[in-house]
Amino acid sequence: MRLRMKKITPSALKNLIAESRLLEADGIGPKVVEAPNGKIIHKLFRRKRWLSSALFYPYAVRFANNARRLDSLGFNTVEVLEIAHCRSCGYHLLSYEKVSGCSMRDLVKESPTKEQFIELGQFIAQLHQRGVYFRSLHLGNVLRNENNQLVLIDIADMQFFRRPLSASQRLRNFRPLLNRPDDRQLISTENWHALVSAYGNLAALETSSITAIKALGDERLTRG
Ligand SMILES: Nc1ncnc2c1ncn2[C@@H]1O[C@H](COP(=O)(O)OP(=O)(O)OP(=O)(O)O)[C@@H](O)[C@H]1O
Ligand SMILES: [Mg+2]
Repeated sequence: MRLRMKKITPSALKNLIAESRLLEADGIGPKVVEAPNGKIIHKLFRRKRWLSSALFYPYAVRFANNARRLDSLGFNTVEVLEIAHCRSCGYHLLSYEKVSGCSMRDLVKESPTKEQFIELGQFIAQLHQRGVYFRSLHLGNVLRNENNQLVLIDIADMQFFRRPLSASQRLRNFRPLLNRPDDRQLISTENWHALVSAYGNLAALETSSITAIKALGDERLTRG
């Protein structure tokens, strides 16, 4: 079911932010806040450039559409409850249920077991086999919920294809996993190989493509 775009006034938005707990901010202001009941997350989107595709297809709407597409493909993601637009301040607000659990980043920090990486590799293979290109694929955007399932968050930037991703798309989609220096600290070469082997066992790919993904990690992880 498509959500109706609600309207929110600048003062209502300001109040909502003031009463919430800040989870994520950037130089300009808050990006993600948690409602006082601890059950709802509000994500704020502002258009970065005046003239951008976000003018016609706002990121909050993309997020909500992607949540629906992921759900229909059988992947766990957040349940979007509401989208609102504050016209005079140029913000969109997206509200969704909080997932109880931990990010893969925190879990790996606590115990960097090979199993975590094997499971992540299998999960990425399922995404790619079903044609999902998740641009923000990294350890912070995959949560493990209380039922031990992997759940995707931060899903505004995604593409869906009718067929499995090509070898070059797959290789490209592994890059964000290795982008952050703190993530590279957490991933050992051995665990990267475990992740990629598990991925390769599920994804019907040529050996040379798997070797290229392993090599990407080898290169990025040794460079630090
Ligand atoms: N549904 C959710 N359940 C639990 N925690 C969440 C949820 N959504 C967001 N969070 C927490 O808030 C943090 C930031 O959220 P999110 O990843 O959406 O934003 P971001 O990384 O700042 O966004 P962007 O990548 O667009 O800059 C997450 O890393 C996570 O800790
Ligand atoms: Mg994120």
